[in-house]
Amino acid sequence: MSTAKYIFTETQYAQELERLQAIEKIFDPTSRQRLESTGMTTNWRCLEVGAGAGSITQWMASAVGENGQVVAVDLDTRFVANLAASNVEVLEGNIQQLPLDKQSFDLVHARYVLIHNPDAHAVLSKVLELVKPGGWIVLEEPDFAAARAIAGEDATCQAVNNVNRAIEQMFTARGMDYSLGAKLPALIQAYDLQSFVVEVDTHLSQGGSGMATMMKMSTVQLAEKYLATGVVTQADIDHYGRFAEDPNTWAIYYATVSVVAQKQ
Ligand SMILES: C[S@@+](CC[C@H](N)C(=O)[O-])C[C@H]1O[C@@H](n2cnc3c(N)ncnc32)[C@H](O)[C@@H]1O
Repeated sequence: MSTAKYIFTETQYAQELERLQAIEKIFDPTSRQRLESTGMTTNWRCLEVGAGAGSITQWMASAVGENGQVVAVDLDTRFVANLAASNVEVLEGNIQQLPLDKQSFDLVHARYVLIHNPDAHAVLSKVLELVKPGGWIVLEEPDFAAARAIAGEDATCQAVNNVNRAIEQMFTARGMDYSLGAKLPALIQAYDLQSFVVEVDTHLSQGGSGMATMMKMSTVQLAEKYLATGVVTQADIDHYGRFAEDPNTWAIYYATVSVVAQKQ
């Protein structure tokens, strides 16, 4: 099992909470639709891997009701520790190491989690092991290979594309796959699941939008790691920030690939 550190581990509490809540605001509505498409209902036992700031955990807890259960797992539970309730259990640790019973969940959800693991395939195997026969997975992962500046001044578009290259290099140097999302359907297909639904969401985002603002937050937090790749300068990072705020710019910051599938 990999011991590589999660890239946002050393970020400031308030900044990281703000970033995670920005992700939730943009992506929760679509994630909830995917979760509902499984037929999720009261009494289900659900697992949220990489619970982050916890909005999906809370929503699932209300959907499964007091006789259902949600287990929320994260490497760092600082933002979800206070969610523990009669039907929510919060567990801190790597999903690969936690002593969860095999075939014990009706539904497992993870969004933007596997990509942060050099051994993403092993995490996927673990997730599938935890699902009951007839149970569901809803996995959503980014594909940063889709990222590109579309409209804006040439110099700022170039800077944004340099930062995109730094994102690729940072993931690669840590043994992680920056385009994992695009490979997710093929990886999951190998497990012979049924009711397999694949979707790709590519937001063409205006400067100042939620997506652009969230990606600016990530860039500020990860600036040192991007600079360490040697393919960007601080000037590129500053340009990226201005591009992300400017309503005259448009970019694809990444695509999200989702797979909803049922275990046989
Ligand atoms: C980008 S955040 C996404 C948070 C949340 N899923 C969301 O989309 O709003 C990734 C989260 O996954 C957690 N994580 C990554 N790898 C993990 C692992 N192997 N086991 C448990 N948690 C993990 C990180 O600690 C982090 O909180």
